[in-house]
Amino acid sequence: MSVWYEEQLVKDMMSILGGKAIRGLATSFASSNIYIGKSGLLTMAKLIEAIIPEEERRALIFTDAFTKKFAKNVIQYCDFCKIKYEIFSDIEPEVPIKNIEDSVKICEEFKPKVLIAIGGGSVMDAAKATMIKYENPDTNFNALLPIGDPLGLRRKVRFLVAIPTTSGTGSEVTNAAVLTDTTRDPPKKLEITNGEIVPDMAILDTDFVEDMPPSLTRGSGLDAFSHAIGSYVSNWGNPIVDAINISAIKEILKYLPRAYKYGKKDLEARSHMQVAAAMAGLGFANTIPGIDHSLGHSFGKIFGVHHGLAVGIFLPYVVGFQAKVTDRWMDLCPLFKINTDGKNKEILKNELLKALKNFMQSIDTPTAIKNLNEPVISKEKYMKNIEVLANYADNDGPSLFSYRALNFELCKKIFEYAWDGKDIDF
Ligand SMILES: [Fe+2]
Repeated sequence: MSVWYEEQLVKDMMSILGGKAIRGLATSFASSNIYIGKSGLLTMAKLIEAIIPEEERRALIFTDAFTKKFAKNVIQYCDFCKIKYEIFSDIEPEVPIKNIEDSVKICEEFKPKVLIAIGGGSVMDAAKATMIKYENPDTNFNALLPIGDPLGLRRKVRFLVAIPTTSGTGSEVTNAAVLTDTTRDPPKKLEITNGEIVPDMAILDTDFVEDMPPSLTRGSGLDAFSHAIGSYVSNWGNPIVDAINISAIKEILKYLPRAYKYGKKDLEARSHMQVAAAMAGLGFANTIPGIDHSLGHSFGKIFGVHHGLAVGIFLPYVVGFQAKVTDRWMDLCPLFKINTDGKNKEILKNELLKALKNFMQSIDTPTAIKNLNEPVISKEKYMKNIEVLANYADNDGPSLFSYRALNFELCKKIFEYAWDGKDIDF
């Protein structure tokens, strides 16, 4: 079953209205309450204790097989504040919709007043989707609109708490969740956006991220980098999110290389990346993700590439693509320490793209698909799939809102350029 943003009528409406016009209908700013540091868990537990009577104080803790080990950090506070808990640790990667039926079943039996998600994007997104289905069993995810479609949540669940174990998705502060519709061939990502699934509390504690291996630090960091840059150059911003995105980009440029290189030995960098990822999450969720996410969703799904790496690799192409219709990219030059004095736009754009690629290469990230080694993809296989790639990307959510109108042919051309690492010149 197709999703609302794939419908031709919706696409036609968008092309009439234009990316900028529709912004007037949808500009808002929403965020979780964000607790940074070691007191976050105690604050959460005390708040639950203060608001929910003891006989109703039940929390369902979501983890996956990997993040299960972090449940003990939370449980001690549950015990301290007499919060009964159960743990659901069967969240699958990329969250097939079927997985949500299992967690909803547990909710129906245990009747939690609090959902606590400990994990990366998949776990947090699963908790969000569970809350929707537990409270509104009739919700059709395919038809859930981002505006004008209230769900009336929090009649059953009082608090949704998100504790990220990676620094990238931003799901701890966003109104978005990504599931996988496995009934489609190939399985397709299903993007849900609704203001009521913004978590009530986001807890950023380095205990949950300090052990990330370098590849995950880099992949999740690139995801955050793409959220901030992709949404900034998409020209959907308002001054609140613009400021947040610019700050996030600055922080990532400074701290991602350190976090990648030194890991646990540099907790300052870890902490800054946690905050930067949350900021970038606020940046894209209060505007729209860039089309790096459409291209990366498609590329990642078809070739099994980590989400952050898959979206990050398309950043130079997306900046180049949007540059044809907006000068937003020029604001990024000072962040990359590019001297803009007396230079024309073409020179500046080339310098920015070069600086962006240099930064990515400094964290061992290729910017041409042919140089990718996680996984290695043959040219033959890539070109054989290029129409599937383009079709998938063209029908992905962020493509609908691209400031520069996107279509199948343009997607295909971007994929072709990305193979060789050629700058966009169309
Ligand atoms: Fe992302």
